[in-house]
Amino acid sequence: MSKDQIPVENLTELEASSELAFLAAELARHDALYHGKDAPEISDADYDALKRRNDAIEAAFPALVRADSPSKKVGFTPLPTFAPIVHARPMLSLDNTFSEEDLRDFVSSVYRFLGHLPDDSIAFTAEPKIDGLSMSIRYEKGKLKTAATRGDGTTGENVTANIRTIKEIPNELPSDAPDVVEVRGEVYMAKSDFMALNAQMEAEGKQTYVNPRNTASGSLRQLDANVTAKRKLRFFAYALGEVSNGGQPARIADTQYGIVEKFREWGFPVNPLMKRFTSAQQLLEHYNEIGVARPDLDYDIDGVVYKVDRLDLQERLGFRSRSPRWATAHKFPAEQAFTTVENIEIQVGRTGALTPVARLTPITVGGVVVTNATLHNADYIEGIGNSGERIRPEDHDIRIGDTVIVQRAGDVIPQVLDVLLEKRPAEAVKYAFPEKCPVCGSHAVRERNEKTGKLDSVTRCTGGFVCRAQAVEHLKHFVSRNAFDIEGLGTKQIDFFFESDDPALSIKTAPDIFTLKARQEASHLTKLENIDGFGKVSVKKLFDAIDARREIDLHRLIFALGIRHVGETTAKLLARSYGTYEHFEEAMKAAADPASDAWAELNSIDGIGEVVARAIIEFYKEPRNLDVIDRLIRELQPKEAEKPSTEGSPVAGKTVVFTGSLEKFTRDEAKARAESLGAKVAGSVSKKTDILVAGPGAGSKLAKATELGVQTMDEDEWLALIGG
Ligand code: IVH
Repeated sequence: MSKDQIPVENLTELEASSELAFLAAELARHDALYHGKDAPEISDADYDALKRRNDAIEAAFPALVRADSPSKKVGFTPLPTFAPIVHARPMLSLDNTFSEEDLRDFVSSVYRFLGHLPDDSIAFTAEPKIDGLSMSIRYEKGKLKTAATRGDGTTGENVTANIRTIKEIPNELPSDAPDVVEVRGEVYMAKSDFMALNAQMEAEGKQTYVNPRNTASGSLRQLDANVTAKRKLRFFAYALGEVSNGGQPARIADTQYGIVEKFREWGFPVNPLMKRFTSAQQLLEHYNEIGVARPDLDYDIDGVVYKVDRLDLQERLGFRSRSPRWATAHKFPAEQAFTTVENIEIQVGRTGALTPVARLTPITVGGVVVTNATLHNADYIEGIGNSGERIRPEDHDIRIGDTVIVQRAGDVIPQVLDVLLEKRPAEAVKYAFPEKCPVCGSHAVRERNEKTGKLDSVTRCTGGFVCRAQAVEHLKHFVSRNAFDIEGLGTKQIDFFFESDDPALSIKTAPDIFTLKARQEASHLTKLENIDGFGKVSVKKLFDAIDARREIDLHRLIFALGIRHVGETTAKLLARSYGTYEHFEEAMKAAADPASDAWAELNSIDGIGEVVARAIIEFYKEPRNLDVIDRLIRELQPKEAEKPSTEGSPVAGKTVVFTGSLEKFTRDEAKARAESLGAKVAGSVSKKTDILVAGPGAGSKLAKATELGVQTMDEDEWLALIGG
């Protein structure tokens, strides 16, 4: 990211000012994604790099510091749906330390500030920086009174009801606790609980979560505390807010270490890796130890926090504008390692996309062995990003034999970040991206985006059904969970049947699945039950599973066809709009004429845009597709989909209000669907409201509906009600 940046000292004033404007907007956008939507687009390390660049430019051009400068902000303005709580003491952020040198600077700055103290006389604590959400929990007269998120540092969100569902957080404090104590710390989700939750989501066919931090944040920001209670959230206590007795400031300990000890006595979970040291060298050693332990911890951490241990010294050191002088966060670099590219292979997907994959000399990156990394597409290999921008200098293209930096951030697929030119072997040549599909030999092309006129970043095989790779991927899609979902016919079995050229066994296209049993019965030679991995019982089960799917939901059938851009949601829309398979196919063939009613009808379906419409029509123009479909339909009895008639519609005549954010549809789409089912969609809740559909972040409308006794449901329940 920083490689092709102009060094700050070479920036002109004009360049500096425009870059600061860009950084202010970009950082605000990432703040909103991270804090507001819990859906970050960039890694913490990249975010920090943007922030550092901003700080460096501001330091060089102090006159250009903007009113909306990211350096003036702490965290993010709270969401409006929770009642605000003004923190009795602001919840500040920490300065970041990125290197050994920064750490030594921090320690010496503390000494310099305090003056006249002998070397190694100041103790510092070092503890993991937990990657969760900071929380301030206020106890009055020993009872948990309120809990607030950090928010913008001054005002947070009142999430008391949700915090009460966390078992690890005591509801009462022992009698030695002062009248008022604010215990601060981090709410997080354990990695193991996160994995279990995702496994469950996957089993239920639901969307999985991105990472523990966002899941914890999303779980905590539920207006319905019952939802929070179902998620296993945890807590580490590490700091104090207000402490007072009879309105007078009080103390519970003299040191940071003592405070945490007290928290432990009071029943709070505290981090076992916190230790006390007196030199930068020792702090650094502990940082390295925590770094080594990191992959084995059951919670995500992103660095180590150092704090001056004595509270009287903390008080003397005080604060800069937004962070204490007595503490700093030493961040871990994103997990990176060097290795060599042994080969670049091309994978061909169902839609023909050619994806280059780097085969790497196996290397451990943050505790995980990495052997492959995606190279995305031809541009990425060259060092060009998705919008045509340079992401690496010109000669840093990725070649076989190159030594590269591999990064693994969180759960994302390993990336090749950069190439070490000094290690490039003399014989390494530029990688020539194939112009032909490596599997079928058809031409591979980059399409031009009609709107922008730019070349698409994806290179695609034009072979269609001729391409074995596309054909086999297509079959895997056909039998997948949300399509035909045939038990006993997974990717391994598909590979086996596809590879076979035996007429009694081979499956090359979807209809062959349904003729397999008949072909087996007709053959005396090749019996499936005699083949390794099958056996009599499993063969019978397989045939039963296949037969059970001859009657298939229309939307599953449409989805299974693998038409480009037609995902599950679109398939459902199409099924509901056309009712029967015959009607659908007939209409799609007729829609090839742009002057036809069929074309107009297809385009008028809410949720179906022109790109999708064209893709479906192209699909039905291809004789090869029609042949396969004909053979397939002969084997099936597709069910009729319920037409969107208002008669018999469970919501006909009802008044529905949508609130909060919807995850499966846009607001407009949800509204259109409801209306097509005969419901009236209103903007506000009143006595006339029949149903309130509340997504995450729902606020006053939900409260009002509850008050009025209006039936409320979440998006899934709504979808179930209207028939998915
Ligand atoms: S101390 C005045 N200790 O890091 C400083 N913070 O960038 C009080 N954090 O908002 C914070 N682990 O959410 C402290 N062991 C730890 C921490 C920690 C995580 C977070 C916290 C804070 C942010 C500061």
